Amino acid sequence: MADEKYLLTTEHVKLFYGEKEALHDISLHFPKTGITALIGPSGSGKSTYLRAINRMHDLTPGVRVEGKFLFHGQDIYADNVDLVDLRKRIGMVFQQPTPFPFSVYENVAFGLKLGKKMPKHELDEEVEKALTQAGVWNEVKDRLGSNALGLSGGQQQRVSVARVLATKPDILLLDEPTSALDPISSRVVEDSLLDLRDHYCLIIVTHNMQQAARISQTTAFLNEGRLVEVGNTRDIFLDPKEKETQDYVSGRFG
Ligand SMILES: Nc1ncnc2c1ncn2[C@@H]1O[C@H](COP(=O)(O)OP(=O)(O)OP(=O)(O)O)[C@@H](O)[C@H]1O
Ligand SMILES: [Mg+2]
Repeated sequence: MADEKYLLTTEHVKLFYGEKEALHDISLHFPKTGITALIGPSGSGKSTYLRAINRMHDLTPGVRVEGKFLFHGQDIYADNVDLVDLRKRIGMVFQQPTPFPFSVYENVAFGLKLGKKMPKHELDEEVEKALTQAGVWNEVKDRLGSNALGLSGGQQQRVSVARVLATKPDILLLDEPTSALDPISSRVVEDSLLDLRDHYCLIIVTHNMQQAARISQTTAFLNEGRLVEVGNTRDIFLDPKEKETQDYVSGRFG
């Protein structure tokens, strides 16, 4: 039975790179909407965990994933899962903005063109909608035909978010999406993510504690491949249960 309360449940997740166990028994659950922040020192397994959610490790030789991943109650790791479809529904935004060297318009329309054929006016509407949702429409609407690589880093990152949104995902996975940006662009991207959190499930890896505190409702702290603690973001930062969490959020290590 699907658990109605959660869009995504991951239970007893272990991940091995060859012999090395990089994730030890991680169980985390995600509701349909809201932002969950994954925090933890470098090498704690944040990216490894995030990538397991949309099966990005499938092509890496020697990686073994154990545990249960249920998305809408369906097993993400079942043999019959269509990976292209899965990655449309669970989209990923990376640290470096990743526009293709095409126009802004083509960057966003790209994923849509892979699907069923759409009349031009419909495509135009979808592109506008995605760019609006990503909070960058006003800045790019007069330069949709220009190369996306000519935009600022922050604009590129929001175009990357729009590209993911265009395929109508339920979940956005974001791996340090603002760490390559200056503080002002970072805040602008953060504000766009805040606008999305009532409509999507966002899971964001960040090293920026202020950012996690500002935008997420739930925070999970990982250390050395273990889930140390997960809870309400306020509690994790102000009143954590574990001393390890306290030490990390107060900057004593990591
Ligand atoms: N392809 C790989 N092969 C072998 N080991 C890997 C591979 N990718 C990651 N690891 C190891 O798995 C552990 C977790 O790495 P991961 O990249 O998930 O950490 P992270 O929390 O995202 O760190 P950072 O904050 O630096 O991005 C580390 O010990 C890392 O060296
Ligand atoms: Mg990482």
